[in-house]
Amino acid sequence: MSDEIRKLIQEAAEKARRETSHEPEPQFTGEVRYPVECQVGRGLEGAIVTDTKVGYVNGAKGWLVYRGFDCFDLAEHSTFEETTYLLFEGKLPNRSELQEFSDRLKSSREVPGAVYDHLRRLPITQTHPMSALRTAVSILGNLDPDADDVSVAKEKEVSIQLVAQFATLVAAIARLRRGESILAPRNDLGHAENLLYMMTGNEPDATLARVMDIMLILHADHGMNASTFSTMVVNSSLSDMYGSVVAGIASLKGPLHGGANEKVLYDLEEIGDVSNVQSWFTRARETKRKINGFGHRVYKAYDPRARILGPIAQMITDRNPETRRLYEVANQLEKLVSSELGTEKKIFPNVDFYSGLVYSAMGIETAMFTPIFALARVPGWTARTLEYLADNRIFRPRAVYTGPSSRDYVPIDQR
Ligand code: COA
Repeated sequence: MSDEIRKLIQEAAEKARRETSHEPEPQFTGEVRYPVECQVGRGLEGAIVTDTKVGYVNGAKGWLVYRGFDCFDLAEHSTFEETTYLLFEGKLPNRSELQEFSDRLKSSREVPGAVYDHLRRLPITQTHPMSALRTAVSILGNLDPDADDVSVAKEKEVSIQLVAQFATLVAAIARLRRGESILAPRNDLGHAENLLYMMTGNEPDATLARVMDIMLILHADHGMNASTFSTMVVNSSLSDMYGSVVAGIASLKGPLHGGANEKVLYDLEEIGDVSNVQSWFTRARETKRKINGFGHRVYKAYDPRARILGPIAQMITDRNPETRRLYEVANQLEKLVSSELGTEKKIFPNVDFYSGLVYSAMGIETAMFTPIFALARVPGWTARTLEYLADNRIFRPRAVYTGPSSRDYVPIDQR
């Protein structure tokens, strides 16, 4: 089965190379000199906030690279543990480095009981799991007596610990929402496998474990997106890594960012059947509603992650007639959106369009999709924050003031 997954990724990569130019870009070797000249649009479109070696998104080509490695290659060959090492250290680990790093992640998986006590006190079925996750990470920060040590060494230690603990927290929240007892992490399982085990109580088969691993790899980093920037902005005041990551979680929750994956599934359920896609799409266009899971600030070509996730969703939904029906709806919706908006507005599926179907086929509750995105994104958030921290300057942009000036203050009884 893992040969089947490998083949799907190779085909997706081939398609991407055929349809978009994958010629390597001329390497930038100079020194970045500030101020960098660029045009800035609303929402900081086009603004350059820093230089980085962590990762690169080429939106025109549909190209995603972590530390110089193409996401198609990483999805085919790597693991989440190895990709995380790569993002932090800037190179692929050798065998013993990977072993040591994986062991370190395993030994950091446990979460203090006090965090669970707080989670149990939340109205867990009424609160969004991203809000619960945000609270849990904040509590972790309160329990660390050295949280205010903001040296790069300490912040890196916290980052690695958070990569490991996020999976435990997300699984605990999923189980508490279902009224089930929390399962302790199992150190004989890899990160993705253990996540699925802790969430469902069942050891996943090799296909599910590998698919989850690929999901985590493909979500690990993605340029200067809103949640990454939020994490970096908070950290740039030399606030601690826990609080910075809390900001990342809060930002990722929004439906214009990570929250889109769950919205897609609600839309697919609302459409319900392939025969309803056309009328649903027409209504969405008439009401100028944005179609969840489509469009991107940076990609004006097909999102390479969606290229991989589409075929994986097709493969994995085969296991479950209910999600298979939703896959057919999604596939039809993609055809319609691409034919009407693809050429005109360069609107294509993004990573969130097919990811929910994959999680759903794994038996994961819709509200847990964004928390899984979050646990996968911790390496990207923290690797970029650590890189910036090493040569920190507080973020402090300005706004153009367009309000009135020189108004006379009128006492309250004369207004
Ligand atoms: N459905 C329909 N039209 C869309 C669209 C979508 N999902 N996304 C963008 N467009 C249209 C806009 O209406 C706009 O049209 P106009 O030029 O006629 O005004 C044009 O494409 C440019 O979009 P804009 O809203 O300026 O893009 P943005 O960079 O501000 O926003 C997103 C990017 C991702 C927030 C936006 O595409 C979106 O809301 N997508 C749905 C939510 C989603 O999937 N988010 C996850 C992103 S990974």
